[in-house]
Amino acid sequence: MTAVRREHYWYVVAESRELTRDAVLARKVLDEWLVVFRGPDGAPAVLRDRCMHRHAPLSKGTLRDGVLQCAYHGWSYDQHGVVVAVPAEGERFKQVKRRCAKAFAVREQDGFVYVRLADDGPTDITPFAMPHWGEDGWRHVRLVNTFANNVTNCAENFIDVPHTVFVHPGIFRVSHGQRITADVTRTGGSVHVHYHGETDNLGWFRRFLNPDGGSIQHRDSFHAPNVTEVEYTFGPDRRLYIISQSVPEEDMRTRVYTTLSYSFGIFSRSRVLDKITKRVLRYQGQAVIDQDLEALADQGRVLDKYGTDFQNTSADAIHVLVESLQAAIAEGTDPRTLPERSASIAFVI
Ligand code: FES
Ligand SMILES: [Fe+2]
Repeated sequence: MTAVRREHYWYVVAESRELTRDAVLARKVLDEWLVVFRGPDGAPAVLRDRCMHRHAPLSKGTLRDGVLQCAYHGWSYDQHGVVVAVPAEGERFKQVKRRCAKAFAVREQDGFVYVRLADDGPTDITPFAMPHWGEDGWRHVRLVNTFANNVTNCAENFIDVPHTVFVHPGIFRVSHGQRITADVTRTGGSVHVHYHGETDNLGWFRRFLNPDGGSIQHRDSFHAPNVTEVEYTFGPDRRLYIISQSVPEEDMRTRVYTTLSYSFGIFSRSRVLDKITKRVLRYQGQAVIDQDLEALADQGRVLDKYGTDFQNTSADAIHVLVESLQAAIAEGTDPRTLPERSASIAFVI
């Protein structure tokens, strides 16, 4: 069995669109300081954010034709981290042996730039494939936020139904005393939840997402170590995915890239209607996230003070399975090798 560590996974370091030809971005993943830029061929590059010379941060440097020049004494680096110029050495530079800064594996996929910090590890771990990215009839809205809590608590929040009536009253759901049941399965390094009996309990969103009060299908998934996927189908032709990629900057600091992907029939086909749809989703999505930012920061402060000793309800069976996958990684076990587990849960919202 191959050992797996958190460094073996691919984490989002930037959106493709923010990494323009002359952008130099400073990022942090798992406490590693990174500089992100595009090389001469436009391919993304990620180096440790530390100049080899006197350790100035390379993210303060300037990029010219894909070569990154340190702001302190002008050492220049290519996309592989190779030093290609040292001004103080003049012509002698050519005789000095090759110098190379720490560079990391990079991939660009579905409008994201991903980094992997480890040089070794399983080759079958790939970046999460964003559903319907680039497909006809599908549109996407992206939001980026930083949470003062860890990846596991963020991910659990994003697929936690009972909190929605307390933290997002009226926007997302309304408390009705409604009984909800769901099937939960842990398999292949993921936890899947299939809800039954969700009908019209979507608060303000209902008027927009489900105006005819059609049937609602709701599935949630967690993919270890850091992706949650919420999928709604309203009536015959409206679908909405909320995909959150939670990137651990530090133990209690998580940068979350939220993608709202939707196909709303006529709404997403018409340019004018889609402009409105996009605006509503962006505004409402951020309003919901703002409430979670506060709830998770509050929880984070209590965890810092007293540690973790959670009590669980039936609905929390989802979180217990999520935590079992995270615990496997913490022990160096590939979470995909854990045995399949299933449960039926019921709770009231
Ligand atoms: S510290 Fe970067 S060139 Fe000197
Ligand atoms: Fe929430």
